[in-house]
Amino acid sequence: MDKETLLLTVAVLGGTGKEGKGLAYRWAKAGYNVLIGSRSSEKAVTAASEILEMLDGGGSVVGTSNVEAAAQANIIVLTVPYAAHRETLESVKGSVAGKLFIDVTVPLVPPKVSKVQMPPAGSAAQEAREILGEGVEVAAAFQNISHEHLLTDGDVECDVLVTGTSKNARQEAIRLVEAAGLIGWDAGPIENSVVVEGLTSVLIHINRQYGSTHAGIRITGAKNK
Ligand SMILES: NC(=O)c1ccc[n+]([C@@H]2O[C@H](COP(=O)([O-])OP(=O)(O)OC[C@H]3O[C@@H](n4cnc5c(N)ncnc54)[C@H](OP(=O)(O)O)[C@@H]3O)[C@@H](O)[C@H]2O)c1
Repeated sequence: MDKETLLLTVAVLGGTGKEGKGLAYRWAKAGYNVLIGSRSSEKAVTAASEILEMLDGGGSVVGTSNVEAAAQANIIVLTVPYAAHRETLESVKGSVAGKLFIDVTVPLVPPKVSKVQMPPAGSAAQEAREILGEGVEVAAAFQNISHEHLLTDGDVECDVLVTGTSKNARQEAIRLVEAAGLIGWDAGPIENSVVVEGLTSVLIHINRQYGSTHAGIRITGAKNK
C-alpha cells in the first residue's frame, strides 16, 4: 500500500449489507482504513469483525453508526437500497462538505426490478447531488458489480463505469475501483449515471433469462491506461 492510501479513511454507509460488505472487504485488503456504517452501531461492529475474520485479522475495519462513519471519513460510499436513499443522505448531509461522495445505489422499484424506473431527478446519483448540495463532489460507481464478485478474491469479469460531478471526482473514484481490483472507466458527467444505473435492471433481466446470478459488462475497443 502507498503512503497516501494509509491516510485515507473510507466510510461505507449500509456496509452491513451485501454490496457494502464486499467493497469494504476489498478496500481493507488494499490498505484503506474502513468504517462500516449502519443504523445500528452494534450491527456494524459485528459486520466489521466478520470482515476482519476474512482478512485474518490484518487490515483496519471498524463498525459504527452511519453518521459517525461519515463524520470521520475522507471518502463516503453509500450502499443502501433505494427505499433508504433519501433518508440516509439526509442523515449524513452535515458531514459531507469537502469530501468525495460515491453513490452505489440503484433506484430499483420492487417488485419490477428488471424494468428501468428512474426517479424524477434523473437518477439516484443526481438525486444524491440535489440532496447533498452543490458543494459536494458526487461520483457514482459499482452499480453493475454483483456483491458475489466482491466477497471473493478472484478476478472480476465486469468493468466499472464511473460518472461524477467533476473529472477529479471521477479520477478519485477510479482509484478506489482499482484498489478493489477492478477496471474503472471515466464514463462522463453525473447525468450519465442514468445509463449505468439502468444497466443494472438489464443485467438482472439477463440473469433471469439465462440462469446466471452475476452478469456484468466489459468495455472493448479502448485502453484505459
Ligand atoms: N447486492 C448487489 O449485488 C448490488 C450490486 C450493485 C448495486 N447494488 C446496489 O447497492 C445498494 C445496496 O445493495 P445491497 O444488496 O447491499 O442491499 P442490502 O444488503 O439489502 O442493504 C444494505 C444495507 O442498507 C441498510 N438498509 C436496508 N434497508 C434499509 C432501510 N429501509 N432504511 C435504512 N437502511 C436500510 C441496512 O443496513 P443497517 O440495517 O445496518 O442500517 C442494510 O444492511 C442498493 O442500492 C443496490 O441496488 C447492489
